[in-house]
Amino acid sequence: MIITKKVLRNVSLTAHPIGCRRYVEDQIAWVQKHAHDASNPAYPAADNLSLPKRVLVLGGSTGYGLSSRIFAAFAAKAATINVSFEREPTENKTATPGWYNTMAFEKKATEAGLKAFSVFGDAFSNEVKEKTADLIAKELGQVDLVVYSLASPLRNDPVTGQTYRSVLKPIGPAFTALSVDLDSDVVKTATIEPATNEQVQETVKVMGGEDWSLWVDYLMERNLLAPNAMTVAYSYIGPKITYPVYREGTIGKAKEDLERTAANLTQKLESIQGKAFVSVNKALVTRASAVIPVVPLYMALLYEVMKERGLHEHCTQQIYRLFTTLLYANTEQILTDEQGRIRVDDWEMLDEVQSEVEKRWALQREGEILKGGDLAGVQEEYEQIHGFGFADIDYSQDVDPRVI
Ligand code: NAI
Repeated sequence: MIITKKVLRNVSLTAHPIGCRRYVEDQIAWVQKHAHDASNPAYPAADNLSLPKRVLVLGGSTGYGLSSRIFAAFAAKAATINVSFEREPTENKTATPGWYNTMAFEKKATEAGLKAFSVFGDAFSNEVKEKTADLIAKELGQVDLVVYSLASPLRNDPVTGQTYRSVLKPIGPAFTALSVDLDSDVVKTATIEPATNEQVQETVKVMGGEDWSLWVDYLMERNLLAPNAMTVAYSYIGPKITYPVYREGTIGKAKEDLERTAANLTQKLESIQGKAFVSVNKALVTRASAVIPVVPLYMALLYEVMKERGLHEHCTQQIYRLFTTLLYANTEQILTDEQGRIRVDDWEMLDEVQSEVEKRWALQREGEILKGGDLAGVQEEYEQIHGFGFADIDYSQDVDPRVI
């Protein structure tokens, strides 16, 4: 079949197997190159660091989780297990990009002599936790690192069976701000109605720390966390302009809960000298973030400002910096902010970057084409994470969606 890009309300419905493979291979090549290069202080060589050798990544098929898995395998030579939620391909329907990415990753990892396994299913369920634990016990013995990188619209509570849905809404008054339509480049006003109390609670249930904690409890109970094991989950803060819908909204409440969970988990992990961290990462185009109103406009302006200053990074660069300069930097203490969070959003949050974004934001007018901004860059990244938009791939070729 000829696989074309199909996007509905900023959600891509298709993915290209050859393009997804290219995306994964490019990230692997970038990591391999930098892992042996001691000349770049921003991305130091990984060769002499004590890096984890057995890594579990929850949500390791796309975005930050995939980059974490790529780093673990191709910089640390770790055996990896991914847990993710995927749709498999059929003869005439494409798989999720995460499925293609995983197939491509595991092929490369196996070729490199690295163990790589996946559990496809609902990470919130007891069944998947048990299956994953069995796999760790059988194949890896224990794990040295658990990366928690799930981004999900819903969660079925394994005990009560109740379904919780996460929403991205302000708390208190409705929030109105400019946004940009990814297809037409036209600036428009978006109003988001406030969340009910119930929606706040549900979002915390889905995107807060409860499930992270359940994973760590269960793995500890089964004695599957190695001495000194670490666990890290990803969070976001972002600029003041998105506070009402993000940090001070429903998802912000969930992230606060996730951040509190890190402290609780560190206490639980004391018996094995383990530690739990939250890393605050940069705003990047992923399948989860592209659907957040206001965010595409912010990202278009942010990408432009950061690229002009040579500070733009993609998921893999962020994760590379997180692992080599912070989590496993061999320092006596891991550098955090006052709330104990690791910050790799430091370049995004620089005053000079934020004030420039604000200036460019103030120039935008509803109904007009976006002035400046790197919407093309945002669109390109969004296409590429679905396997489209690579100049040297011939998308008019007939391909079997089941073959990677
Ligand atoms: P993503 O959408 O690229 O990845 C989410 C992963 O979770 C995928 O592997 C998906 O298969 C998996 N997943 C979702 N529901 C699942 C389920 N029920 N069971 C098993 N796997 C499931 O998302 P992204 O953006 O990489 O987000 C990961 C984390 O990073 C989130 O906590 C997000 O808030 C955080 N983050 C994202 C930022 C961004 O700008 N994209 C910035 C800072 C933090």
